[in-house]
Amino acid sequence: MSTQQGREGEPKGKRTATDPARSGMFLRPPLATKRKPSPRSRSRRLGVWLFGAYGGLATTTVVGARAIAKGLAAPQGLTTETDIARDIPWRPFDKLVFGGHEIRAGDYPSAAAEIHRKNGTLPLELLQPLRRDLLAQSRNVQPGVLPNAGATIARLADRRTPKRSLRRQIEQIAHDLQQFQTRHRLERVVCVNLTSTEPALRLGPAHRSRAAFERALDRNQEGIVRPSALYAYAAATSGMPFVHFTPSNSALTPALEEVFADSGAPFMGCDGKTGETLVKSALAPMFRYRNLKVLTWQGYNILGDRDGHVLADQENKRSKVESKDALLPAILGYPLHTHVGIDYVPSLHDLKTAWDFVHFEGFLGYKMALQFIWQGCDAILAAPLVLDLIRFADLAAARGESGPMPHLACFFKQPFGVDEHDLHRQWHMLGEYLDRVRSEA
Ligand SMILES: NC(=O)c1ccc[n+]([C@@H]2O[C@H](COP(=O)([O-])OP(=O)(O)OC[C@H]3O[C@@H](n4cnc5c(N)ncnc54)[C@H](O)[C@@H]3O)[C@@H](O)[C@H]2O)c1
Repeated sequence: MSTQQGREGEPKGKRTATDPARSGMFLRPPLATKRKPSPRSRSRRLGVWLFGAYGGLATTTVVGARAIAKGLAAPQGLTTETDIARDIPWRPFDKLVFGGHEIRAGDYPSAAAEIHRKNGTLPLELLQPLRRDLLAQSRNVQPGVLPNAGATIARLADRRTPKRSLRRQIEQIAHDLQQFQTRHRLERVVCVNLTSTEPALRLGPAHRSRAAFERALDRNQEGIVRPSALYAYAAATSGMPFVHFTPSNSALTPALEEVFADSGAPFMGCDGKTGETLVKSALAPMFRYRNLKVLTWQGYNILGDRDGHVLADQENKRSKVESKDALLPAILGYPLHTHVGIDYVPSLHDLKTAWDFVHFEGFLGYKMALQFIWQGCDAILAAPLVLDLIRFADLAAARGESGPMPHLACFFKQPFGVDEHDLHRQWHMLGEYLDRVRSEA
Protein backbone atom coordinates (compact mmCIF):
# COMPACT_ATOMS: atom_id res chain seq x y z
CA MET A 1 0.00 0.00 0.00
CA SER A 2 1.46 3.38 -0.92
CA THR A 3 1.68 5.79 1.97
CA GLN A 4 0.29 9.27 1.98
CA GLN A 5 3.78 10.68 2.29
CA GLY A 6 4.72 8.76 -0.83
CA ARG A 7 1.98 10.38 -2.85
CA GLU A 8 2.88 13.84 -1.60
CA GLY A 9 6.55 13.30 -2.22
CA GLU A 10 7.41 13.53 1.48
CA PRO A 11 10.25 11.50 3.03
CA LYS A 12 9.28 7.95 3.97
CA GLY A 13 12.36 7.03 6.01
CA LYS A 14 11.86 4.84 9.05
CA ARG A 15 12.11 6.48 12.42
CA THR A 16 12.84 4.98 15.77
CA ALA A 17 10.08 4.25 18.24
CA THR A 18 11.80 6.51 20.81
CA ASP A 19 9.18 8.71 22.34
CA PRO A 20 10.45 12.25 22.98
CA ALA A 21 7.44 12.95 25.15
CA ARG A 22 8.22 10.20 27.64
CA SER A 23 11.08 12.26 29.00
CA GLY A 24 8.71 14.60 30.84
CA MET A 25 6.93 17.82 30.41
CA PHE A 26 9.29 20.40 29.00
CA LEU A 27 9.80 18.65 25.87
CA ARG A 28 12.20 18.55 23.11
CA PRO A 29 10.63 19.21 19.74
CA PRO A 30 8.97 16.08 18.35
CA LEU A 31 11.12 13.89 16.09
CA ALA A 32 10.95 15.93 12.99
CA THR A 33 12.19 16.81 9.61
CA LYS A 34 11.16 20.45 9.71
CA ARG A 35 9.66 21.74 6.54
CA LYS A 36 8.09 25.10 6.07
CA PRO A 37 4.41 24.59 5.13
CA SER A 38 4.19 26.21 1.72
CA PRO A 39 1.45 28.80 1.16
CA ARG A 40 0.39 26.71 -1.85
CA SER A 41 -0.26 23.65 0.29
CA ARG A 42 -2.66 25.71 2.44
CA SER A 43 -4.79 26.30 -0.64
CA ARG A 44 -5.19 22.53 -1.25
CA ARG A 45 -7.88 20.42 0.32
CA LEU A 46 -7.54 18.42 3.50
CA GLY A 47 -9.48 15.22 4.11
CA VAL A 48 -10.84 14.61 7.59
CA TRP A 49 -11.82 11.02 8.34
CA LEU A 50 -14.00 10.58 11.40
CA PHE A 51 -14.33 7.12 12.93
CA GLY A 52 -17.79 7.28 14.54
CA ALA A 53 -18.94 9.62 11.76
CA TYR A 54 -22.61 10.11 12.76
CA GLY A 55 -22.09 10.43 16.52
CA GLY A 56 -23.09 13.57 18.40
CA LEU A 57 -19.57 14.95 18.46
CA ALA A 58 -18.67 14.06 14.87
CA THR A 59 -21.92 15.54 13.54
CA THR A 60 -21.47 18.77 15.54
CA THR A 61 -17.88 18.99 14.24
CA VAL A 62 -18.93 18.61 10.60
CA VAL A 63 -21.88 21.02 10.88
CA GLY A 64 -19.70 23.55 12.73
CA ALA A 65 -16.88 23.37 10.18
CA ARG A 66 -19.25 23.82 7.24
CA ALA A 67 -21.04 26.69 9.00
CA ILE A 68 -17.74 28.48 9.69
CA ALA A 69 -16.58 27.85 6.11
CA LYS A 70 -19.73 29.48 4.75
CA GLY A 71 -19.59 32.43 7.13
CA LEU A 72 -22.72 31.27 8.99
CA ALA A 73 -20.97 30.88 12.35
CA ALA A 74 -17.98 32.37 14.15
CA PRO A 75 -15.06 30.14 15.22
CA GLN A 76 -15.94 30.59 18.91
CA GLY A 77 -14.20 28.06 21.15
CA LEU A 78 -11.25 27.40 18.81
CA THR A 79 -7.76 27.90 20.24
CA THR A 80 -6.31 28.14 16.72
CA GLU A 81 -8.34 31.33 16.26
CA THR A 82 -6.80 33.07 19.29
CA ASP A 83 -3.70 35.15 19.84
CA ILE A 84 -1.49 32.22 20.91
CA ALA A 85 -1.93 30.78 17.41
CA ARG A 86 -1.50 33.94 15.34
CA ASP A 87 0.59 33.93 12.14
CA ILE A 88 0.42 30.16 11.68
CA PRO A 89 -0.71 28.99 8.24
CA TRP A 90 -3.75 27.05 9.46
CA ARG A 91 -5.76 25.19 6.87
CA PRO A 92 -8.86 27.29 6.04
CA PHE A 93 -12.16 25.59 6.92
CA ASP A 94 -13.47 25.78 3.37
CA LYS A 95 -10.67 23.36 2.38
CA LEU A 96 -11.90 20.54 4.63
CA VAL A 97 -13.64 17.50 3.12
CA PHE A 98 -15.22 15.05 5.57
CA GLY A 99 -15.68 11.29 5.43
CA GLY A 100 -15.66 8.48 7.95
CA HIS A 101 -16.68 5.07 9.21
CA GLU A 102 -19.92 4.42 11.06
CA ILE A 103 -21.80 1.32 12.29
CA ARG A 104 -25.24 2.96 12.12
CA ALA A 105 -27.08 3.86 8.94
CA GLY A 106 -27.93 7.50 8.38
CA ASP A 107 -26.64 10.76 7.02
CA TYR A 108 -25.54 14.12 8.40
CA PRO A 109 -28.83 15.99 7.91
CA SER A 110 -30.77 13.35 9.89
CA ALA A 111 -28.05 13.04 12.59
CA ALA A 112 -28.05 16.86 12.91
CA ALA A 113 -31.87 16.99 13.01
CA GLU A 114 -31.85 14.48 15.90
CA ILE A 115 -29.39 16.69 17.79
CA HIS A 116 -31.61 19.71 17.09
CA ARG A 117 -34.65 17.91 18.50
CA LYS A 118 -32.88 16.69 21.63
CA ASN A 119 -30.46 19.47 22.50
CA GLY A 120 -31.35 22.46 20.33
CA THR A 121 -27.63 23.07 19.84
CA LEU A 122 -27.76 22.87 16.03
CA PRO A 123 -30.44 25.40 15.05
CA LEU A 124 -32.62 24.78 11.99
CA GLU A 125 -31.60 28.17 10.51
CA LEU A 126 -28.09 26.77 10.32
CA LEU A 127 -29.04 23.31 9.08
CA GLN A 128 -31.29 24.37 6.22
CA PRO A 129 -28.66 26.23 4.14
CA LEU A 130 -26.15 23.43 4.82
CA ARG A 131 -28.42 20.54 3.85
CA ARG A 132 -27.01 19.80 0.38
CA ASP A 133 -23.46 20.22 1.57
CA LEU A 134 -24.07 17.85 4.50
CA LEU A 135 -25.61 15.24 2.19
CA ALA A 136 -22.52 15.45 0.00
CA GLN A 137 -20.24 14.76 3.02
CA SER A 138 -22.49 11.81 3.99
CA ARG A 139 -21.68 10.11 0.69
CA ASN A 140 -18.11 9.67 1.99
CA VAL A 141 -19.21 7.66 5.04
CA GLN A 142 -18.52 3.91 4.90
CA PRO A 143 -19.56 0.96 7.10
CA GLY A 144 -17.29 0.56 10.12
CA VAL A 145 -15.87 -2.54 11.80
CA LEU A 146 -16.83 -4.12 15.13
CA PRO A 147 -14.30 -6.77 16.21
CA ASN A 148 -14.57 -7.52 19.94
CA ALA A 149 -16.39 -4.21 20.54
CA GLY A 150 -18.43 -5.45 23.51
CA ALA A 151 -22.15 -6.08 23.70
CA THR A 152 -23.33 -2.49 24.30
CA ILE A 153 -21.56 -1.05 21.25
CA ALA A 154 -22.44 -4.06 19.08
CA ARG A 155 -26.14 -3.43 19.87
CA LEU A 156 -25.85 0.11 18.44
CA ALA A 157 -25.03 -1.26 15.00
CA ASP A 158 -27.81 -1.28 12.45
CA ARG A 159 -25.52 -1.75 9.47
CA ARG A 160 -24.60 -5.31 8.61
CA THR A 161 -20.95 -5.97 9.34
CA PRO A 162 -19.85 -9.07 7.41
CA LYS A 163 -17.69 -11.59 9.29
CA ARG A 164 -14.15 -11.08 8.04
CA SER A 165 -10.64 -11.77 9.28
CA LEU A 166 -8.84 -8.95 11.12
CA ARG A 167 -6.42 -8.56 8.19
CA ARG A 168 -9.33 -8.27 5.77
CA GLN A 169 -11.04 -5.63 7.95
CA ILE A 170 -7.83 -3.59 8.10
CA GLU A 171 -7.48 -3.81 4.32
CA GLN A 172 -11.03 -2.55 3.94
CA ILE A 173 -10.44 0.43 6.26
CA ALA A 174 -7.18 1.33 4.48
CA HIS A 175 -8.88 0.94 1.10
CA ASP A 176 -11.68 3.33 2.15
CA LEU A 177 -9.10 5.89 3.32
CA GLN A 178 -7.10 5.69 0.09
CA GLN A 179 -10.24 5.90 -2.08
CA PHE A 180 -11.37 9.00 -0.18
CA GLN A 181 -8.02 10.69 -0.71
CA THR A 182 -7.82 9.82 -4.38
CA ARG A 183 -11.44 10.59 -5.28
CA HIS A 184 -11.33 14.06 -3.75
CA ARG A 185 -7.70 14.79 -4.69
CA LEU A 186 -6.83 15.56 -1.09
CA GLU A 187 -3.39 16.75 -0.13
CA ARG A 188 -3.55 14.65 3.01
CA VAL A 189 -6.09 12.94 5.29
CA VAL A 190 -6.22 13.44 9.07
CA CYS A 191 -7.98 10.60 10.93
CA VAL A 192 -9.86 11.26 14.17
CA ASN A 193 -11.29 8.55 16.41
CA LEU A 194 -14.70 9.63 17.75
CA THR A 195 -16.22 6.19 18.26
CA SER A 196 -18.08 5.15 21.43
CA THR A 197 -15.94 4.46 24.49
CA GLU A 198 -14.95 0.79 24.34
CA PRO A 199 -14.55 -1.58 27.29
CA ALA A 200 -10.94 -1.51 28.52
CA LEU A 201 -8.83 -4.15 26.77
CA ARG A 202 -6.54 -6.28 28.90
CA LEU A 203 -3.10 -5.53 27.43
CA GLY A 204 -0.53 -8.32 27.17
CA PRO A 205 2.53 -9.49 25.25
CA ALA A 206 0.80 -8.98 21.87
CA HIS A 207 0.64 -5.23 22.54
CA ARG A 208 4.27 -4.76 23.53
CA SER A 209 5.84 -4.74 20.06
CA ARG A 210 4.82 -4.41 16.46
CA ALA A 211 6.18 -7.84 15.60
CA ALA A 212 4.07 -9.54 18.31
CA PHE A 213 0.98 -7.57 17.28
CA GLU A 214 1.44 -8.45 13.61
CA ARG A 215 1.77 -12.14 14.50
CA ALA A 216 -1.46 -11.98 16.52
CA LEU A 217 -3.22 -10.28 13.58
CA ASP A 218 -1.96 -13.02 11.25
CA ARG A 219 -3.42 -15.61 13.63
CA ASN A 220 -6.69 -13.63 13.63
CA GLN A 221 -6.74 -13.35 17.45
CA GLU A 222 -9.80 -11.12 17.88
CA GLY A 223 -9.30 -10.91 21.64
CA ILE A 224 -6.24 -8.68 21.26
CA VAL A 225 -8.08 -5.85 19.47
CA ARG A 226 -11.06 -3.59 19.68
CA PRO A 227 -12.26 -1.50 16.68
CA SER A 228 -10.09 1.48 17.71
CA ALA A 229 -6.95 -0.66 17.34
CA LEU A 230 -7.82 -1.53 13.74
CA TYR A 231 -8.61 2.10 12.91
CA ALA A 232 -5.33 3.29 14.44
CA TYR A 233 -3.38 0.55 12.65
CA ALA A 234 -4.96 1.38 9.28
CA ALA A 235 -4.26 5.11 9.73
CA ALA A 236 -0.65 4.42 10.76
CA THR A 237 0.11 2.04 7.90
CA SER A 238 -1.47 4.53 5.48
CA GLY A 239 0.91 7.20 6.88
CA MET A 240 -2.00 9.37 7.99
CA PRO A 241 -1.98 11.58 11.13
CA PHE A 242 -4.22 10.14 13.86
CA VAL A 243 -6.02 11.88 16.72
CA HIS A 244 -7.44 9.59 19.41
CA PHE A 245 -10.17 11.62 21.12
CA THR A 246 -11.66 8.74 23.14
CA PRO A 247 -10.38 6.93 26.27
CA SER A 248 -10.42 3.50 24.56
CA ASN A 249 -7.10 1.91 25.50
CA SER A 250 -6.61 -0.38 22.50
CA ALA A 251 -5.56 2.37 20.06
CA LEU A 252 -2.22 3.70 21.28
CA THR A 253 -0.43 0.65 22.67
CA PRO A 254 3.38 0.35 22.41
CA ALA A 255 2.86 -1.93 19.39
CA LEU A 256 0.81 0.70 17.58
CA GLU A 257 3.21 3.45 18.64
CA GLU A 258 5.86 1.48 16.78
CA VAL A 259 3.66 1.22 13.69
CA PHE A 260 3.23 5.02 13.73
CA ALA A 261 6.98 5.49 14.22
CA ASP A 262 7.68 3.24 11.23
CA SER A 263 5.32 5.16 8.95
CA GLY A 264 6.41 8.60 10.19
CA ALA A 265 2.85 9.77 10.88
CA PRO A 266 2.15 12.10 13.83
CA PHE A 267 -0.46 11.03 16.39
CA MET A 268 -1.88 12.12 19.75
CA GLY A 269 -4.47 11.13 22.39
CA CYS A 270 -6.15 10.14 24.60
CA ASP A 271 -9.63 11.39 25.53
CA GLY A 272 -10.43 15.04 24.85
CA LYS A 273 -10.31 17.29 27.92
CA THR A 274 -13.47 19.33 27.57
CA GLY A 275 -15.48 19.62 30.78
CA GLU A 276 -15.13 18.60 34.41
CA THR A 277 -11.56 17.34 33.92
CA LEU A 278 -10.59 20.61 32.21
CA VAL A 279 -11.83 22.54 35.25
CA LYS A 280 -10.03 20.12 37.60
CA SER A 281 -6.73 20.57 35.78
CA ALA A 282 -7.10 24.37 35.99
CA LEU A 283 -8.16 24.46 39.67
CA ALA A 284 -5.93 21.77 41.24
CA PRO A 285 -2.70 23.77 40.63
CA MET A 286 -4.19 26.65 42.67
CA PHE A 287 -4.19 24.46 45.79
CA ARG A 288 -0.57 23.56 45.11
CA TYR A 289 0.45 27.20 44.57
CA ARG A 290 -1.02 28.18 47.97
CA ASN A 291 0.15 25.08 49.87
CA LEU A 292 -3.43 24.07 50.66
CA LYS A 293 -3.66 20.32 51.16
CA VAL A 294 -6.44 18.65 49.21
CA LEU A 295 -7.83 15.75 51.23
CA THR A 296 -10.70 14.66 49.01
CA TRP A 297 -11.87 15.40 45.48
CA GLN A 298 -15.24 13.85 44.83
CA GLY A 299 -16.80 14.26 41.39
CA TYR A 300 -20.22 13.17 40.25
CA ASN A 301 -21.31 13.36 36.59
CA ILE A 302 -24.75 12.84 35.08
CA LEU A 303 -25.31 12.75 31.32
CA GLY A 304 -27.71 11.39 28.70
CA ASP A 305 -27.41 10.66 24.98
CA ARG A 306 -25.83 7.68 23.24
CA ASP A 307 -22.48 8.39 24.91
CA GLY A 308 -24.17 8.29 28.35
CA HIS A 309 -25.99 5.08 27.41
CA VAL A 310 -22.71 3.39 26.41
CA LEU A 311 -21.05 4.61 29.62
CA ALA A 312 -23.89 3.05 31.65
CA ASP A 313 -22.22 -0.29 30.82
CA GLN A 314 -19.80 -0.93 33.73
CA GLU A 315 -17.07 -2.22 31.40
CA ASN A 316 -17.19 0.85 29.13
CA LYS A 317 -17.52 3.19 32.12
CA ARG A 318 -14.29 1.89 33.64
CA SER A 319 -12.29 3.30 30.67
CA LYS A 320 -13.76 6.76 31.25
CA VAL A 321 -13.42 6.79 35.03
CA GLU A 322 -9.73 5.82 34.83
CA SER A 323 -9.18 8.60 32.32
CA LYS A 324 -10.89 11.24 34.50
CA ASP A 325 -9.39 10.14 37.83
CA ALA A 326 -5.66 9.91 37.16
CA LEU A 327 -4.66 13.56 37.02
CA LEU A 328 -5.15 14.81 40.61
CA PRO A 329 -2.30 12.94 42.38
CA ALA A 330 -0.10 13.81 39.38
CA ILE A 331 -0.82 17.56 39.71
CA LEU A 332 -0.82 17.74 43.51
CA GLY A 333 2.12 15.41 44.05
CA TYR A 334 0.55 13.27 46.81
CA PRO A 335 -2.14 10.60 47.10
CA LEU A 336 -5.63 11.73 48.09
CA HIS A 337 -9.13 10.36 48.33
CA THR A 338 -10.81 10.70 44.94
CA HIS A 339 -13.92 9.37 43.32
CA VAL A 340 -15.51 9.88 39.91
CA GLY A 341 -19.12 8.81 39.50
CA ILE A 342 -20.88 8.72 36.14
CA ASP A 343 -24.61 8.04 35.83
CA TYR A 344 -26.88 7.90 32.81
CA VAL A 345 -29.82 10.33 32.96
CA PRO A 346 -31.63 10.07 29.59
CA SER A 347 -33.58 13.34 29.82
CA LEU A 348 -30.39 15.42 30.01
CA HIS A 349 -29.33 14.40 26.48
CA ASP A 350 -25.97 16.09 25.79
CA LEU A 351 -26.16 18.59 28.66
CA LYS A 352 -23.70 17.05 31.10
CA THR A 353 -23.78 18.16 34.71
CA ALA A 354 -20.85 17.63 37.05
CA TRP A 355 -20.82 18.41 40.76
CA ASP A 356 -17.40 18.43 42.40
CA PHE A 357 -16.70 18.61 46.12
CA VAL A 358 -13.14 19.50 47.15
CA HIS A 359 -12.26 19.14 50.82
CA PHE A 360 -8.99 20.81 51.74
CA GLU A 361 -6.89 21.72 54.74
CA GLY A 362 -5.32 25.11 55.42
CA PHE A 363 -3.32 26.92 58.13
CA LEU A 364 -3.48 25.22 61.57
CA GLY A 365 -5.09 22.18 59.96
CA TYR A 366 -8.45 23.91 59.51
CA LYS A 367 -10.66 22.13 56.96
CA MET A 368 -12.59 24.02 54.28
CA ALA A 369 -14.43 23.11 51.07
CA LEU A 370 -14.84 24.23 47.49
CA GLN A 371 -17.78 23.04 45.42
CA PHE A 372 -18.56 23.70 41.79
CA ILE A 373 -21.25 22.72 39.34
CA TRP A 374 -20.38 22.50 35.68
CA GLN A 375 -23.17 22.33 33.13
CA GLY A 376 -21.69 21.94 29.70
CA CYS A 377 -23.05 20.67 26.43
CA ASP A 378 -20.55 17.94 25.60
CA ALA A 379 -20.44 18.22 21.82
CA ILE A 380 -20.44 22.04 21.85
CA LEU A 381 -17.38 21.95 24.11
CA ALA A 382 -15.61 19.20 22.21
CA ALA A 383 -16.23 20.05 18.52
CA PRO A 384 -13.95 23.12 18.46
CA LEU A 385 -11.20 21.02 20.06
CA VAL A 386 -11.58 18.43 17.34
CA LEU A 387 -11.24 21.18 14.72
CA ASP A 388 -8.17 22.56 16.50
CA LEU A 389 -6.62 19.10 16.68
CA ILE A 390 -7.25 18.51 12.98
CA ARG A 391 -5.38 21.74 12.22
CA PHE A 392 -2.51 20.87 14.58
CA ALA A 393 -2.17 17.37 13.10
CA ASP A 394 -2.20 18.85 9.59
CA LEU A 395 0.47 21.39 10.58
CA ALA A 396 2.67 18.69 12.17
CA ALA A 397 2.43 16.52 9.04
CA ALA A 398 3.18 19.49 6.78
CA ARG A 399 6.29 20.18 8.88
CA GLY A 400 7.39 16.56 8.58
CA GLU A 401 6.94 15.90 12.32
CA SER A 402 6.34 12.33 13.34
CA GLY A 403 5.41 10.43 16.50
CA PRO A 404 3.42 11.83 19.42
CA MET A 405 2.54 15.53 19.59
CA PRO A 406 3.25 16.34 23.27
CA HIS A 407 2.56 20.07 22.77
CA LEU A 408 -1.13 19.11 22.47
CA ALA A 409 -1.25 17.79 26.06
CA CYS A 410 -3.66 20.56 27.14
CA PHE A 411 -6.34 19.07 24.88
CA PHE A 412 -6.33 15.60 26.49
CA LYS A 413 -7.27 13.96 29.78
CA GLN A 414 -4.52 11.37 29.32
CA PRO A 415 -1.93 13.12 27.14
CA PHE A 416 0.09 10.39 25.47
CA GLY A 417 3.59 10.11 26.95
CA VAL A 418 3.29 13.37 28.93
CA ASP A 419 3.30 13.33 32.73
CA GLU A 420 2.27 16.98 33.03
CA HIS A 421 -1.46 17.46 33.79
CA ASP A 422 -1.41 21.06 35.06
CA LEU A 423 -3.40 23.02 32.47
CA HIS A 424 -1.30 26.16 32.95
CA ARG A 425 1.99 24.37 32.25
CA GLN A 426 0.44 22.47 29.35
CA TRP A 427 -0.64 25.82 27.93
CA HIS A 428 2.98 27.01 28.05
CA MET A 429 4.05 23.86 26.21
CA LEU A 430 1.62 24.75 23.44
CA GLY A 431 2.86 28.35 23.34
CA GLU A 432 6.50 27.23 23.17
CA TYR A 433 5.74 24.93 20.25
CA LEU A 434 3.92 27.66 18.35
CA ASP A 435 6.77 30.11 19.01
CA ARG A 436 9.13 27.52 17.52
CA VAL A 437 6.93 27.08 14.46
CA ARG A 438 6.83 30.86 13.93
CA SER A 439 10.57 31.25 14.40
CA GLU A 440 11.27 28.48 11.87
CA ALA A 441 8.85 29.84 9.30
N1 LIG B 1 -17.15 16.38 25.31
C1 LIG B 1 -17.24 15.30 24.54
O1 LIG B 1 -18.15 15.18 23.76
C2 LIG B 1 -16.17 14.27 24.63
C3 LIG B 1 -15.03 14.56 25.37
C4 LIG B 1 -14.01 13.60 25.44
C5 LIG B 1 -14.16 12.39 24.79
N2 LIG B 1 -15.29 12.12 24.10
C6 LIG B 1 -15.42 10.80 23.49
O2 LIG B 1 -15.72 10.93 22.11
C7 LIG B 1 -16.48 9.80 21.69
C8 LIG B 1 -17.70 10.27 20.92
O3 LIG B 1 -18.58 10.97 21.79
P1 LIG B 1 -20.07 11.27 21.31
O4 LIG B 1 -20.70 12.09 22.36
O5 LIG B 1 -20.08 11.73 19.90
O6 LIG B 1 -20.70 9.79 21.37
P2 LIG B 1 -21.82 9.19 20.41
O7 LIG B 1 -22.29 7.96 21.09
O8 LIG B 1 -22.83 10.21 20.06
O9 LIG B 1 -21.02 8.84 19.08
C9 LIG B 1 -20.23 7.70 18.90
C10 LIG B 1 -20.47 7.20 17.48
O10 LIG B 1 -19.54 6.18 17.20
C11 LIG B 1 -20.24 5.16 16.47
N3 LIG B 1 -19.47 3.93 16.61
C12 LIG B 1 -19.36 3.12 17.69
N4 LIG B 1 -18.49 2.12 17.43
C13 LIG B 1 -18.06 2.30 16.16
C14 LIG B 1 -17.16 1.60 15.33
N5 LIG B 1 -16.55 0.49 15.74
N6 LIG B 1 -16.93 2.08 14.08
C15 LIG B 1 -17.55 3.19 13.62
N7 LIG B 1 -18.43 3.89 14.37
C16 LIG B 1 -18.67 3.46 15.63
C17 LIG B 1 -21.61 5.13 17.11
O11 LIG B 1 -22.57 4.52 16.27
C18 LIG B 1 -21.88 6.62 17.29
O12 LIG B 1 -22.45 7.19 16.14
C19 LIG B 1 -16.81 8.99 22.96
O13 LIG B 1 -15.88 7.93 23.10
C20 LIG B 1 -16.59 10.00 24.06
O14 LIG B 1 -16.25 9.41 25.29
C21 LIG B 1 -16.30 13.03 23.99
